[in-house]
Amino acid sequence: MNSQSGEPPTMETATTRRGFMEWFSWALLGLGSVAMAIPILGFFLGPILKPRADEWVDFGPLTDFPQNSTRLVDVLNPLRGANDGMTGKVAAYVRRIEGETFQIFSTHCTHLGCPVSWFKESGLYMCPCHGGVYYEDGGHASGPPPRGLYEFEHRVEKDRLMVKLGHLPTLQDPGSAHVSGKNS
Ligand code: FES
Repeated sequence: MNSQSGEPPTMETATTRRGFMEWFSWALLGLGSVAMAIPILGFFLGPILKPRADEWVDFGPLTDFPQNSTRLVDVLNPLRGANDGMTGKVAAYVRRIEGETFQIFSTHCTHLGCPVSWFKESGLYMCPCHGGVYYEDGGHASGPPPRGLYEFEHRVEKDRLMVKLGHLPTLQDPGSAHVSGKNS
């Protein structure tokens, strides 16, 4: 009848147990798959379901930016997550032409997104990855980038420079940034 009575299990009992174990294994596999799928779906669907607009960020007083100069500024990304740490920072080049006329550039190359560097001596931005070069005004000078640098919206408020940013600009989704320069 069964193992408790000291007799070997019958064919029917063994089949029932095997069926239960199979069912239980499939149930565990299903639960594990659902548990793994939830964060992955959240990663891909989160930005679509809960889009957040770029925000105005205070870059500091105008006196921090001498006329006819370009300098790198890094600030906390307003769209950062609670656990982002250092990756929650975003950098931008601030070019003060004169008075309240500025250009604010993303540091990301419009080719594949590598960080570009500003070279004051040559008045050029250069990308270390594939040799992309941009003029001082952000326009494309040479190399594989298809466009000029991304340029962020900005305004002057109570003698402070405010810049609108948050999303990483890409050609498909530049967010509030636009592509800059004569040769864009
Ligand atoms: S990523 Fe800058 S040239 Fe390719």
